[in-house]
Order: sequence, then C-alpha cells, then structure tokens
Amino acid sequence: MALALSLATGVAELATPLLAVALAPGEALPESLAPLDARLNGALGRAIARRDFRGARDETLHVAGAESGIERVLLVGLGKGDDRRGALRRAGAAAARAAAKLGTGAVAFHAGGLDADGVEQAALGLSLGAWTYDDLKTPPPEGERRAPLERASVVAGADAQAGIAAAEAIAAGYDLARRLAMMPGNVCTPDTFVETAQDIAGRFGLSVTVLGRAEMEAEGMGSFLSVAQGVPQDPKLVAIEYRRGGDAKPLVLVGKGLCFDSGGISIKPAPGMEMMKFDMCGAAGVMGAMEAIARLQLPVNVVGVVGSTTNMPSGTSMKPGDVVRSMSGKTIENVNTDAEGRLVLCDLLTWVKRYDPAAVIDAATLTGAIVIALGHNAVGVFGSDAALTREVLAAGERASERGWELPMFDEYREQIKSDVADIKNTGGRAAGSITAAWFLREFVDGYPWVHLDVAGTAYSETDLGWIPKGPTGTPTGTFVEFVRGRAR
Ligand code: BES
Ligand code: MN
Ligand code: ZN
Repeated sequence: MALALSLATGVAELATPLLAVALAPGEALPESLAPLDARLNGALGRAIARRDFRGARDETLHVAGAESGIERVLLVGLGKGDDRRGALRRAGAAAARAAAKLGTGAVAFHAGGLDADGVEQAALGLSLGAWTYDDLKTPPPEGERRAPLERASVVAGADAQAGIAAAEAIAAGYDLARRLAMMPGNVCTPDTFVETAQDIAGRFGLSVTVLGRAEMEAEGMGSFLSVAQGVPQDPKLVAIEYRRGGDAKPLVLVGKGLCFDSGGISIKPAPGMEMMKFDMCGAAGVMGAMEAIARLQLPVNVVGVVGSTTNMPSGTSMKPGDVVRSMSGKTIENVNTDAEGRLVLCDLLTWVKRYDPAAVIDAATLTGAIVIALGHNAVGVFGSDAALTREVLAAGERASERGWELPMFDEYREQIKSDVADIKNTGGRAAGSITAAWFLREFVDGYPWVHLDVAGTAYSETDLGWIPKGPTGTPTGTFVEFVRGRAR
C-alpha cells in the first residue's frame, strides 16, 4: 500500500510516534526543536554534543521521546556535500526504513528551511524508503507482525503543499516501476504490461495500443520477433498515449521489457541469472513515468512504448549467426543471442516514427559493460543530439538519478559491421555499451534521440541502507523530470 503523505505545519502541537530530524554534519539542533529537547532533558543536544550523532549520510540515531506528543526521535544524517535535494531524498528514505523497522506506523520528518521542492524531495524519499514487495510472502502470525508504515508527514509551511502533491504522484510512479521489476519472470509477463497500461489508461482516460506476434509480423518486426520466437508466450508491444499538450509533437519514452533474459542459445552462466528478471526495468520505468505524468496532469503530449518478451533457449529459438530483417528494412546478423535487448528496441525505434516524435528517449538494462564502465552510481547516457542529451542529463540530476555521457565517435560503429548482413548485433567486448548504443542509433530516423543504459542502476544486488536490495525505480524519475522540464 502506498504511503499516505501530508504536510505538518509546525512541531509545537505535533503528536507522532516518531519524529525524524535531519541534520548535516556540524548543524545545530534547530531553534524550533528547543522546547522538545527541553522536554527530553536535553537528550538531543547531548547526542550531538557528545558526537553520538554526527550527521553523516545514512546515519541514524534513535532517541527515546516523551510519553505522549512526540514519542520517539530519530536523528538522521544529511551528509556533507552540496546536493541538498539528493540528501533530503535519501534522509527521508533512511527515516522511513528506520520507522518501518520500529513498527511505528507513522513518521514525521523535519529538516531546516524546506521549500516546496525540499518537501517534495523529503516526501518522495519517505515514500521510496517505505516501499516493500510482500505479495509473494506468507505474512507472519498476527502477534509477530510489526505495524506497516502507512503515514508520513513533512514539517514545513503551508505554502509547500505542492511538494506533497508532486511527491505523491511521482512516488506512485516509482512504486509501480519497482513492483513490476520485483515480480519474478513467471509473474510479470508481457501481458502484465498490457494489463498495467490498460489500468493506467482506464484511470486517466488515456489510449492504449497493443501489438502481439501476429500484428508484429504484419509490421515486419523481424528483429523483435527473432527474440520472441524462442517462447510460446505472445510478445507484446504496448503504447500508452497521454495527450494534454494540444497539437505539439509528442515526447516518446521507450523501454526494454525482457521479463527474463537467460541469454537464449548464447546462454548466461547460472550464478546470478535470477537477476535477469530485472531485464524489464526500462519498460517498468516507462510505465512508472506514465503513471506519474498522468497524476501530475502535465500539459504535454507523451507516448510511453514498451517491448516485452522473454529470451529463452528452445527448439524454436534463434541461433547465433541467424540473419533477420528489421522493420526498418535493415538486415541484422544475430551473432550473439544474448544481445537481445537491442533487437527488441531497434524495431520499437522504427515503429515510433508514426508519432512524429519531438524527441525519443529509450531506457534499457542493455549491457553488462555499462556496469564495468560506470558501476552502480551513474546511468550511461548516449545521444544523437547534444542539446537533448544535455537536457536528459539535467533531468537525471534533478531526479537524483545521475547520468554520465559516453562518446559516440563514429569509429566505434566499425565494430558492428557484418560480413553477411547490414549490421551485426554485437561488436565484441571493447566499449560494449557504446557499440550497443551505435546499434540502436542505426535505427534512429527523423527525431532527436537519447539512450539510457540502466543495467547498473535499475536494481541493487545489496542493501544500500536507504534503498533495500532490489529495484531502485530508475529511470522513472529521469523520464518524469524530463517531461516536467518540457511542461514548464
Ligand atoms: N540484459 C543484459 C545486460 C545486463 C547485464 C543487464 C548485467 C543487467 C546486468 C543484455 O541483454 C545482455 O545480455 N547483454 C550482453 C551483450 C553482449 C552479448 C554483447 C552483455 O552485456 O553481456
Ligand atoms: Mn541478454
Ligand atoms: Zn537483456
């Protein structure tokens, strides 16, 4: 269940089972909390003076509170550095995770000098930190259950209310993206994207287009279909159209939706293969963004498109060396069946030409090589248009989903020349993320384009403290901030 967010105007009258107080290193307890500290016999001031609490990033210190009113206090570190928005988001998430562990059911969050945007960051953080996926777990017996975290408030002036509303909308998008991502490959199937799109469209009056195998055959999507031919399950191309921007050309968001990527005949090693249920995080981000954009009612035209199937070895699978014809007419030599994401995306990049896009941004867990290049702290960003690339990088920064641009020098394109077809689907180990981007770019035609490689950032294999192990929701926020930027 989504966390209910609200604004709390002032701490004087506040009654809460837990007040989280966010502080940077060296920051004194704010004046407004002096009466509370006095009621606690100076426990908060002492914790800071004794350096039990230092304000470091992700640091938390639980201090017992009063009998009533503010029942517990949690000091939360903002860390040093000048990204205050990111720090607020992260501190909110750390506070929510601590509150969930304590089982307080509700939490109030305080930080100095919050404007509407600061409130939005904190509230969104609280919501991200409260997120769990328990659908497939048997609940513990009644007596052992902790109260789930259901409510969170942020202490700020009444003029910051807009921050709460925006956080609610964006959090709903992140929640959806993370839930879809967390669902295992036998639960999240291409039909799940159809149902999700229809659900969003039904609630907000949007239109949905669905293509299955037969329709894709009619469109000539031989590349996408070469991935889908290994499974009996019907592949799906799903498009959601959100139109509130008059007759402006639409922004098109495209996502890779591999419900599971075994590698196909070029099969992956067994250890860690279960992580490949996350190979639909680009598509999940598109769905999450459409949910958030619809809730925000932004005055823009946006189309969200996902391509979904499962990459499996079977008697009907494509084989290394098979040559297929894409919707663009270009022939592709599939030298490695594990480079399947680009085979799905390239036909989507051709198909979206029907919308005459103002810009196309695709997101995909596309390459292991981006994890080697950038690790887990930056989205790989590639583009055909310098201005659009800058715009997307800025959107990622606003969303606390930082990206880093990699070069698309045309020399790299040489690596994907084929002896037998127009192009091949892998370019060897060197610069694997760049040659993957170049492959996609070969199908970009008539619109500015940016590609986001989120293989290192869409999910985490370890608990990061503020984010649990599992899906992060990236690139939902980048998509939303990009569209929001265009709506201004
Ligand atoms: N889905 C994977 C990329 C991936 C790897 C995502 C690790 C998340 C974590 C993609 O389909 C893939 O298998 N790419 C290959 C490409 C290679 C065969 C050229 C890879 O990265 O090894
Ligand atoms: Mn693969
Ligand atoms: Zn893949």
